[in-house]
Amino acid sequence: MLHFPDGFLWGAATAAHQIEGNNFNNDWWPREHAPGTTIVEPSGDACDSYHRFREDMTLLRDAGLDTYRFSIEWSRIEPEEGFVSRAGIDHYRRMVDTALELGITPMVTLMHFTVPRWFADRGMWRSPDAADRFARFTELALPVLGDDVKWVCTINEPNIAAMIAGGEDPANLVAYGLPDPDLKVADTLLECHRRSREVLSGVGGVRSGWTVATQAFQPEPGCEQAARDYGHQRDDWYLEAARGDDWVGVQAYTRTVIGPDGPRQVPEGVETTLTGWEYYPKALEEGVRSAWEKTGGVPVFVTENGMATADDARRIDYTRGALNGLHAAMADGVEVAGYLHWSLLDNYEWASGFRPTFGLIAVDRETFVRTPKPSLGWLGGVARANAVEEDPQP
Ligand code: NOJ
Repeated sequence: MLHFPDGFLWGAATAAHQIEGNNFNNDWWPREHAPGTTIVEPSGDACDSYHRFREDMTLLRDAGLDTYRFSIEWSRIEPEEGFVSRAGIDHYRRMVDTALELGITPMVTLMHFTVPRWFADRGMWRSPDAADRFARFTELALPVLGDDVKWVCTINEPNIAAMIAGGEDPANLVAYGLPDPDLKVADTLLECHRRSREVLSGVGGVRSGWTVATQAFQPEPGCEQAARDYGHQRDDWYLEAARGDDWVGVQAYTRTVIGPDGPRQVPEGVETTLTGWEYYPKALEEGVRSAWEKTGGVPVFVTENGMATADDARRIDYTRGALNGLHAAMADGVEVAGYLHWSLLDNYEWASGFRPTFGLIAVDRETFVRTPKPSLGWLGGVARANAVEEDPQP
């Protein structure tokens, strides 16, 4: 068995728009419903977790996990610029209280891709007021955090957000490595992150950071420099920018091989997941090593890792492989605070809709009945033992 350090946190992650349902006041909803959209289906009621969050957290806790990462929806807290919904704030505070009551450590993400419609209509990340608005939203969120939320993520996957802004086509959200990021948007996201952290620094025990999609860019022979250049503006820059933060989030799924003409398609015959990504559990080890190196030793938190599959036994294989790699990186001195699986629930996978199932728990699309999969029990067992078995096929 491979043992993890005492106090290592084990859990799962979700995001508001992907599970709550009826987030019709954010920028993604009109995109889902736009005529001719490339988004395969709208989010609709999603998992109805806006109402069923206690059940979700109870399933997580009963399995043996101890940490839940969820996001708060800006469009519910500030539905119009300057109008603050007390009820929206109370709702998310209730989620924090529920987690604490159940003995779960909450990690709160302030912005997980979606923003209020008014913010999008006023130029989104291209508005000169973007950082002021995001800093103000952080202030509005303080009552949600109270004095008992320690882990706060300001912005989820700023690197993917800058790429979406570069291509504007939401379908690109599922195609790692494409398109070119909008570098001005990247600068603005970093400013938003810094301003948000300033606000959070006034709050007792908060430890804040942002979470980066580490994409394991690997060169074909002779393409080493090309891969470094390609990866820097999509990946490394965001890790370097996290120097000095309290922690950095690693979100790892697959790798991308860079040839002379850019990213390569996954070759025929290589196993892929329901998102079309290569089955590559080692992505996690490479992601945490890279984060540790590029940040100059900022503590890492694995804030997402998992695979979309209909074969739950394969999800267990993948996760075991990923955790073996994580353990190897930690044995070499990389400091890691915890591991959160993506995702707790089968949920709305953005442009790909509900088909790619990442969940440890299945959700009936009509009744919202939750059915834990064997992988939930398996990961809960790992958490209880604070150890994972060695990979039979390293
Ligand atoms: C990254 C994103 O943060 C999350 O929203 C998405 O569902 C997963 N990875 C899987 O693509």
